[in-house]
Formats: sequence, structure tokens, C-alpha cells
Amino acid sequence: MDSFVTMAEIDAATSAVKGKLSTLPRIGLVLGSGLGGLAEDVKSPVSIPYSEIPHWPVSTIQGHAGRLVVGDLYGVPSMVMQGRVHYYEGYSMDRVTFPIRVMQRMGIKMIILTNAAGAINPDYIPGDVMLIVDQINLVGMAGLNPLRGPNLEEFGERFPDMSHPYDPGLMKLARNVAVKEGIHLHEGVYVCLSGPSFESPADLRFLQRIGADAVGMSTVPETIIARHGRTKVLGFSGISNKANLDGTTETTHEEVLAAGKTIVPKLTTLIQGVLKELTTDH
Ligand code: HPA
Repeated sequence: MDSFVTMAEIDAATSAVKGKLSTLPRIGLVLGSGLGGLAEDVKSPVSIPYSEIPHWPVSTIQGHAGRLVVGDLYGVPSMVMQGRVHYYEGYSMDRVTFPIRVMQRMGIKMIILTNAAGAINPDYIPGDVMLIVDQINLVGMAGLNPLRGPNLEEFGERFPDMSHPYDPGLMKLARNVAVKEGIHLHEGVYVCLSGPSFESPADLRFLQRIGADAVGMSTVPETIIARHGRTKVLGFSGISNKANLDGTTETTHEEVLAAGKTIVPKLTTLIQGVLKELTTDH
């Protein structure tokens, strides 16, 4: 049998992080490629390099700083991951999602996941933001489900429900904030592929036919682990490039990072608005 993440590993990482904090975070935020700038808004931050946390997977690619920034984000004690690891870096899916387990063990009940994604929907342009309303777990269907292996009963059941991968209440808040702030927020389905190669035109036409609006290489496994532990998820894709459906343009990692500059201010406004709503009594 493969070597799967154990409770002992999760607990060792959780105690190491807790040991550096005076206040426990209430929400978790994962910042995708080119989106790390949002962590600068954390007040009185405690910064912990991933390499200092036992068993925590360390990112190897440009655009992912590789540290935890914990502190007050717009009035909410938050644990912000500046960068994540991906399956294509060589980690198994349960290692990729290890940080979500640590968040759950720390008592976090809500996470916000962000990513950079390619637009399959022809209405999207680079710099746009999409609220992820549902997902296609293509890699999971092909066998790479992050829950493969012994079920960690401490978090949830063997066959968890996935009828609401993204939380309807949180989506409503995000929609309200977008309207109030004049941000055009697309709503669509995100599909996760393993990468690291981008898609061929035929790959993209296939993804369009099966109902995907945006394509990337993350988020879906994290959402599955989150929902296994009944953690609520809000997800945003920053559209970094138009997917190359007709084979006329090339996709590069540089353009993915560059689009982040337009996306970060919008995402900041959206996340700030949602967190404010959460701290305000209605
Ligand atoms: N395809 C897959 N992943 C991505 C893309 C893309 O076009 N852009 C950003 N991440």
C-alpha cells in the first residue's frame, strides 16, 4: 500500500503552527499563482516558512512564496497560505491537501480557495474573476482522489457527500459584495487537471463540452478534503489567460503571473467584503 498521510503527521504540523501563535485563526485562505500579494494585508503577521512545519509540503515553483502568514485579515483572525503545492510537483493528492487537514485540526470551519485559471468560457477575458459554483473532479475520476487510502475518521465519513462543494451562503455573500463594489463576477464550473503541461486544443474542446468554464491545476482536491471534514468553502478563479481552443495562441506561466496584478485588487475587495459581512451582525 502507498504511504498515506497519518493523524500523527497532521497533529505534529498542527502543534508546530499552534506553538507560534497567540490567537487561533478562524478562517483559512489559500492564495494561488500570482495572487500572493493579498497576504500583505494581514495585520501583525506571524510568518512561518513551510519548510519549518513538519510534514508540510514545500512549493517548488515561481509565484508561490511558500509561507504561512497568520494574523488579522480585515478583522478576522486568518491563516493565509502564500502559495500551495500541486500534484504535478510530485506530491500525492493527500500530501497536496495536507495543509487543509491542519487547518481543520486547528478548528477552522471556513476556507477561501483562490487559483489562477485558464478561460474556457468564451465570455471570460484575462483579469476577470469567476466565483466557483461547482467543480469537475476529472483527476479524481481518473483515480487521483485525495481521500484515497485509509479514511481519517476524525474528520469525516468514508463516502462524503459532495452536493454542495462550494457553500451557498458564502456564495450569496460574495455575489452581494460584487454588486455593491461594482465588480463583474462570473459564475462558473472549475475543472482540475494534473498539469503541468497546458491543454491541447482538443483537450480544451473536450473540457468545454463536459461543462467546464475555467481550467486549472489545483483547488478541487482541497475542496474535497475540506468537505470531507464539513469545512465550508468559498472559491474564486482569477482568469489569467484565454484557453487556446483553436490553437492560435500559446499559454505561458509568465502571462498567468502577470494577470495576477489585475486580479489581486478585485479579489482583495471581494474577500474583504465577505469577511466584513461575516463579522457584522445582521
Ligand atoms: N490551463 C491550466 N491551468 C492554468 C491555466 C490554463 O490555461 N491558466 C492558469 N492555470
